[in-house]
Amino acid sequence: MFRHHDVHSNRSAEALRIASLRKVYGGGEDSASAGPAGSAGRQVAALDGISLSLPAGSFTAVMGPSGSGKSTLLRCAAGLDQPTSGEVTVDGAEMSGGSESELTRFRRQRIGFLFQQFNLMPTLSVLQNVTLPLRLAGRMADPRRAVRLLEQVGLGDRSHDRPAQLTGGQQQRVALARALVTKPSVIFADEPTGALDAKSARSVLDLMWQAVHRHGQTVVMVTQDPVAASYADSVHFLAEGRLAGRLDQPTAETVAERMTQLGGSPTSAMPTLPRVGGARRGSHTPAMGTLVAA
Ligand SMILES: Nc1ncnc2c1ncn2[C@@H]1O[C@H](COP(=O)(O)OP(=O)(O)OP(=O)(O)O)[C@@H](O)[C@H]1O
Ligand SMILES: [Mg+2]
Repeated sequence: MFRHHDVHSNRSAEALRIASLRKVYGGGEDSASAGPAGSAGRQVAALDGISLSLPAGSFTAVMGPSGSGKSTLLRCAAGLDQPTSGEVTVDGAEMSGGSESELTRFRRQRIGFLFQQFNLMPTLSVLQNVTLPLRLAGRMADPRRAVRLLEQVGLGDRSHDRPAQLTGGQQQRVALARALVTKPSVIFADEPTGALDAKSARSVLDLMWQAVHRHGQTVVMVTQDPVAASYADSVHFLAEGRLAGRLDQPTAETVAERMTQLGGSPTSAMPTLPRVGGARRGSHTPAMGTLVAA
């Protein structure tokens, strides 16, 4: 059942806890889904018993070969998909079961989600896209915070454009502003740099890094890219729906090596960064505007 006592209470010290999570597609267990496995009876255990605990204020990357369950894990953790069994606790609230409206409300207050293909509303302006989560959450759509966030992601002058007028990198920065506008505790990002060139990717990663290290938010990011993964504090590897190891203080090189061992093929749009002065810990100089508490 969905349990949380006060959604306005302080953040929990544990941002995400996943216990014995399973997600089986097909074979009638999930008849509503007619995905890649079809509904003809073949069962696919996309997640096969995953347990994981992530502290608040951590930046975690999830990596693994195609089909290993990364997106399924993220969707189940973010409450966008129901697991077959197991428990998910986000920011102290257990999300399994409960009413759909309770879950939706919680998700809108505590969770931000970033998709590979941005998922902006094409008919809304940039500013309207960013304020949308506030309106959906029934909050006063104070445009000032949205405007400040747009300035921080370097798009203060594009508020009235439509998403189609922006490049992919700019659209992803709008999507990040939209994900941050409700001050979520946890931001889930599924290959957020997968469709971006190196420079745009780096600015999006910089901004997520700041959300973690300046504002204590938690980021869980699926990526195929060892350089993107090197922005994280730790990397969890998935193989065939199970956890297959973890790497702390990752570098692009150590991540790429582990990916090769797992049989995945690491891809990077970005050249390996010279991380001068240990960029990801303390002395990070953002390429974009600086995210400040707004
Ligand atoms: N809606 C669905 N219906 C049936 N099977 C699905 C569905 N979604 C995913 N699957 C299957 O579950 C497994 C895990 O899929 P998932 O999308 O989580 O993998 P992934 O690691 O994100 O892969 P990629 O790197 O290609 O994005 C795959 O075998 C996939 O075919
Ligand atoms: Mg995926």
